[in-house]
Amino acid sequence: RSADGVLDVRLEVSRGLHDVAGRQATTLGYNGGVPGPTLRVRAGDTLRIELVNRLQEATNLHVHGLHVSPEGTADNVFLSVGPGTSQQYEYVLPADHPAGTFWYHPHLHGTVADQLFGGLYGAIVVDDPTQDLPVTRERTLVVSDLTLDGSGHVVAASAPERMMGREGDLVLVNGQLRPRLDATSGERELWRVVNACASRFLDLSLAGQDVRVVGRDGARLGRDSGLDGIVLTPGNRADLVVEPTEGRSELTAHPVDRGGPMGHMMGSDLLPGDGGPVAIADLVVGPGPTADLAPVPAAPAPRDLRDTEVSGRRTLTFRMGMGGMMAGGGGFTIDGRTFDPDRVDQQVRLGTVEEWTIRNDSPMDHPFHLHVWPMQVLAVGGSPVSEPLWLDVVNVPAGGAVTVRVPFEDFGGRTVYHCHVLDHEDLGMMGTVTAR
Ligand code: C2O
Ligand code: CU
Ligand code: CU
Repeated sequence: RSADGVLDVRLEVSRGLHDVAGRQATTLGYNGGVPGPTLRVRAGDTLRIELVNRLQEATNLHVHGLHVSPEGTADNVFLSVGPGTSQQYEYVLPADHPAGTFWYHPHLHGTVADQLFGGLYGAIVVDDPTQDLPVTRERTLVVSDLTLDGSGHVVAASAPERMMGREGDLVLVNGQLRPRLDATSGERELWRVVNACASRFLDLSLAGQDVRVVGRDGARLGRDSGLDGIVLTPGNRADLVVEPTEGRSELTAHPVDRGGPMGHMMGSDLLPGDGGPVAIADLVVGPGPTADLAPVPAAPAPRDLRDTEVSGRRTLTFRMGMGGMMAGGGGFTIDGRTFDPDRVDQQVRLGTVEEWTIRNDSPMDHPFHLHVWPMQVLAVGGSPVSEPLWLDVVNVPAGGAVTVRVPFEDFGGRTVYHCHVLDHEDLGMMGTVTAR
C-alpha cells in the first residue's frame, strides 16, 4: 500500500500442487497459496487488482462485503475473465468505509461453488488506525472445507451434494488441518474469522477461554456478545476478542442442522461426514506476565434505520421446486425464477431506504446475501432484533422469514443478491438488483 492510499495487487489464479491440509494436494489457488494473500486497505483507498487467469476455464473476482461500486471494472460480477486472459479491477473505497473483515472469491455463475471449494478465497482487512482495538496480536482465520481423494485431488460434488450444498470432509483453518495456535496468557488477541466454506454453516466454540464477539460482517457491534448462539453461514465473518488463559483449548465447529431437500430427517442422510463436532484448531496458551490491558473502548452506536421512513417494501421468496430438482437439479428459485443475468428483478431508487422481507418456502435454510449495500436485520422469524444488527449475509431459516432494511446509498448500478450456499447460487438462486 503506497502512502497515497493505493494498493496494487496481482492475483494469479492457477491449478497446481499446494500445501493444503498437511499434504501436497492439487487445488486451485491465488498466487500459489490456499487461502490467497490477505489484502489490507483503509477507508478512502483504491484497491487495484490485476486478476491473471491461468486456468483452462473462465473465472472472475468479487470483493465480498466491501461497500464499493458494482459497475465498470469495480465489483462487477457480470464480467467474465477467460482462460489465459487477465482483467484489471479497480475498487475505490469511500472515505467512510467501515473498518473490518471482508473477503474475496470468484463469482462466475455456475462455477462459483466448484472454484471456491477448489481453493479460491482470501481475506480482505479494512484497517482504521484511529479505531484500532488495544490488542497484542491479530490473526486472520479463514475457515474452509474440502474433500480430497487418495491422490490429493479435490473431489467433485455429486448431484445430491449440489442440491444439499456440499460439505467437505476436512475443515481447514488457513488451508491447514487443525493447526496449533500459540498464544500467551495475559495478552489480548483479535481473531478475524471468515466462513469461506461453500455451504457449511459454522457454530464455533472455544471452550475454557474468554471470547467476545465485537464485530460481524465488517461492522463493529454496538454491544459485544458471547460466541454462543452465533452461527456463521457461508460468507459471514466474526471479529473475536480473545483473552487467552493458560492451557490448551480446542476451537470446535459444531454441526448445524440446516435442513435438507426432503426436510430435516432425510436431509441429514445426504450430509457427508458423521455430522459430529470437529476440532478445527488447537489454542495452546503459555504463561505470560499479568499485564494491565487497557479496556476495549465501547463501539459507537451503530446506525439504526428502525425509525426511518421507508420508500418501498418488497418480499422475496426462496423456493426449491421438487419436480425440477428430480429432473436434474433445477428448481432453485427466488420468486419462482432462476438466475438470468439479462433480467432486472428489483429496480430501486438510489438514495432511498427499502424494507425487504425474505421468505423461505423450502425445507432448507438459505443464507441471503446482497452485494454492495449492507442490510440492517430487523426481525428473524417474526421476532424483532433488539439491537441494530448489520450483516451482509443473513440466514433465512427453513419455512421462516427475515426482514431487513437497506439504505440504497452512495452507489448506483446493477448487481446481485443470492443464496450463499454456493451450490444453490450456481443452481439459480440469484437475482439482479438495479439502483438508479
Ligand atoms: Cu460472497 Cu455474491 O458473494
Ligand atoms: Cu458478496
Ligand atoms: Cu440456499
